[in-house]
Order: sequence, then structure tokens, then C-alpha cells
Amino acid sequence: MSSLNAHTRPLILDGKAIGNQIQKEIKQQVDEFIFRTKRQPTLAVVLVGGDPASQVYVAHKEKGCAKVGLASQRHFLPEATTTGELLALVQQLNADPAVTGILVQLPLPKQIDGTAVLDAIDWRKDVDAFHPTNVGLLSQGRPRFLPCTPFGILQVLYRSGIKVAGKRVVVIGRSDIVGKPIAAMLVQRTGPFGPDFANATVTICHSQTPQLEEVTRSGDILIAAIGQPKFVTAEMVKPGAVVIDVGINRLESGLVGDVDYDGLLPTVSAITPVPGGIGPLTVTMLLHNTLLAARLQWGE
Ligand code: GUN
Repeated sequence: MSSLNAHTRPLILDGKAIGNQIQKEIKQQVDEFIFRTKRQPTLAVVLVGGDPASQVYVAHKEKGCAKVGLASQRHFLPEATTTGELLALVQQLNADPAVTGILVQLPLPKQIDGTAVLDAIDWRKDVDAFHPTNVGLLSQGRPRFLPCTPFGILQVLYRSGIKVAGKRVVVIGRSDIVGKPIAAMLVQRTGPFGPDFANATVTICHSQTPQLEEVTRSGDILIAAIGQPKFVTAEMVKPGAVVIDVGINRLESGLVGDVDYDGLLPTVSAITPVPGGIGPLTVTMLLHNTLLAARLQWGE
């Protein structure tokens, strides 16, 4: 019936279903934690200004908290907020024992010194894992918190049975939120899911990478996190590769990722859709980190 070259349909990695499953597990853990400690972990969500995409993300985060039994507080500040005003709020949240997690939604307005703000968050409440202490611990292979989107990527690979040990992973994009931390996680000797889901040979590409297509075609697993709609085309992908699309780009036609999904379908072995791929995992792993932060501050 089929020739040796016949293409089988790729595995569509259903991040929404995986996220829902993990949220169910987190809800059980939260229920048990509250029953035992009689305290409810609380995430403080800080949004400065009215960026429409950020408003949507923040709403998802608040809804996610409610879904798994975590409390959340919203702190919405005007667009013209100064660095000093935002630092004062962060300090107040650091000092509040009822607040166990602090998330400052990015991007911040231009006048704010974002580095100073992220540095000011108590690293034990740093559920984004953006504080230099948490970045350093991850780099050294002894993470406390894992950053939400890279942790979500690892969850999708793990729960889909896609091992990374010994594979060539190519990451396109060198952001502090996705590119650098996912590379740091996959290159370690082990991780939250053991050595099979670490020990990759990792290459990071960026805007200055020569012969980009040659490099991306070497990836058994290709992770796109550049923020450019449909940047990754079929010629850039090794036949049979696993493609993880972290992009969320708003076009008039709707949401699209960083990869040309339809163009890649005939050549890849597995791929994440947009929406419904990595996006749902980012919120889910934030909920996980919020519970972890409470355990860290209040004890088991
Ligand atoms: N903006 C885009 N992604 C993120 C994220 O993971 N955390 C925060 N705080 N802001 C973001």
C-alpha cells in the first residue's frame, strides 16, 4: 500500500490537553497543601499600562489561579508609572507574608528600568524565574524555579515521550524568557524528568547567525522563539524533525506562530500548533511555580 517514503501524518502536540492534565494534578496538590497548612498560596499579578496582549495574558493567569485553587491579587498601574513607584509596590509585595508569588508582566513601559524591577523581586517569590539568583541556579544545574515557558516546552516533550538526550536541539532566539533558559535546561546532565529529558546538544541561533538555514536543518528538535510570524519555512527544517513553536503573533487573520505550520506539516514528525501549543503551558507552569514558592516560604 505505501512506499518506504510514504509520509505519515505528524503528531500534533496538544498543549491545551497537556496543560489541562497538569492543572488537574496541580489542583490536587493545592487542595492537599491548603488542607494541611490551612493557608492559601497567593499570586500577585502586576500589570503596568494597557498593552492589550498583556491584558489577555494577565487575565489567563488570574483565571488559571482560580481554576487550581490558588488566590490571586491584581495590581494594575497606569502607563506613566515610574521605576520608583513600581519598586515601591514590589517591596510592599516582598514584605507581605500573604503574597507567595510575584509576577510583573512584561514588557514594561519604556521609562521603567525593567532590570531594576526584576532584580528587586524576592527570589523566593520569583515565580517567573527571572531574578539573577534563579537564572544563576538554573545555569549551574541546581534550579529552584524553572522559567514557565521553557518548563512548559519540557513538559510537552516529556508527556509526549519525545526524549532529548543525545539529540541535536536548535533554538532560534536568544531571549532571557525563552531562548537562553530552554538552552540552559536542555544542555544539563539531568532535569525535572531525569537524564532522558536533558543531555541534548544545543545550538542557539539569532539574527547574526551565518547560514541560518544550514544550522536550523541540523536540528532533530527545532524550537522557534523569535517573535516573527511564519519565520521558519519548510526548507529550514530537517525532514522528520520535532518542531516546537513558541511564537504568538497577532495578525489581522488571527494568531500565528513563528513557524509556517501548514508548510511544515508534510515534513515534520511532530509539531505544536498556535494557538493551543506551548501557550497554555506557560500559565500552567506559573501555577506550579506559585505552589512551589508557597512551599519554599511556608515549609512543606
Ligand atoms: N511576557 C511574555 N511572557 C511572559 C512571562 O512568561 N512572564 C512575564 N512576567 N511576562 C511575560
